[in-house]
Amino acid sequence: MKPRIFVTRRIPEKGLEMLRPQAEVEVWPDALPPDYPVLVERVQGIDALLCMLTDRIDGNLMDAAGSRLKVISQFAVGVDNIDTAAATERGIPVGNTPGVLTDTTADLAWALLMAAARRVAESDRFVRAGKWKTWASIGFLGQDIAGATLGIVGFGRIGRAVAERARGFGMRILYHSRRRHPEAERKVNAEFVGLDTLLRESDFVSLHTNLSEDTRHLMNEANFKKMKPGSVLINTARGPIVDSGALYRALSSGTIAYAALDVTEPEPLRPDDPLLALDNIVLCPHIGSASHKTRSRMSAMAAENLIAGLNGKRLPHCANPQVYDIS
Ligand code: DGY
Repeated sequence: MKPRIFVTRRIPEKGLEMLRPQAEVEVWPDALPPDYPVLVERVQGIDALLCMLTDRIDGNLMDAAGSRLKVISQFAVGVDNIDTAAATERGIPVGNTPGVLTDTTADLAWALLMAAARRVAESDRFVRAGKWKTWASIGFLGQDIAGATLGIVGFGRIGRAVAERARGFGMRILYHSRRRHPEAERKVNAEFVGLDTLLRESDFVSLHTNLSEDTRHLMNEANFKKMKPGSVLINTARGPIVDSGALYRALSSGTIAYAALDVTEPEPLRPDDPLLALDNIVLCPHIGSASHKTRSRMSAMAAENLIAGLNGKRLPHCANPQVYDIS
């Protein structure tokens, strides 16, 4: 009997082509993800799960899948929706897709930075609304990027790729992370500083940390107050790193000038979310890695991880490598 794989949403064809010869592949057909109780039901008896960041994958779901479940392969680099400790306890490796989406996500962080600095989305709304009557010397004034200070919080692959792009704009680059990265900082001429200094001195603050208990609501009321007046916050990492209520107050009181978010808390934002009423915010629906090439590569990488796990081999990209220490 062929093993059974459940894929929680449609993914680019490349990954599915790799999976089909290996197993019986069932793909959730709807545009919206299966609700948790439905997912729990659908995973029963499967051998492998290919999931998205919108799926809650916890110990209960793993137990519902049963003892045949050999691998969980996430179609994303971030795995904060998966209880990796519960997977490790059960001897299940969890795959993810690091590296392939670095440049694509860094590009979007820059697209957002520039859109916020130069009020692009606001200008677009103004033109479409038929409000453009004449050229104005004091209309839509924004922030200069060239020569400004960029503060990067989290200096992993994506944070560094954002820094590389900043060099072309002659920016001063500050970064803050759990530990110092001397070689990477030399390469992009970045300066390692404490979070307070970064917030105080940066014109643009871009978030690139993982979501963990340490980083949840890292950008809270107190930290917004430390930011430079007129500064801009960019988040392409995870929504809950920013306390939305505190962000709303910072934007509406003018503590900071602008925000540009690809990720929010919750996702999607509710239609009555106060952030939606503000002009000084640019919002995207979590599209950091959304290029044709990258999403196709992510599907291939997720399939590679899944096939390795199905065949009892070490996953090429494993988010819980400790699982291999348990004999
Ligand atoms: C990730 O991979 O974690 C992104 O958020 C989606 O590509």
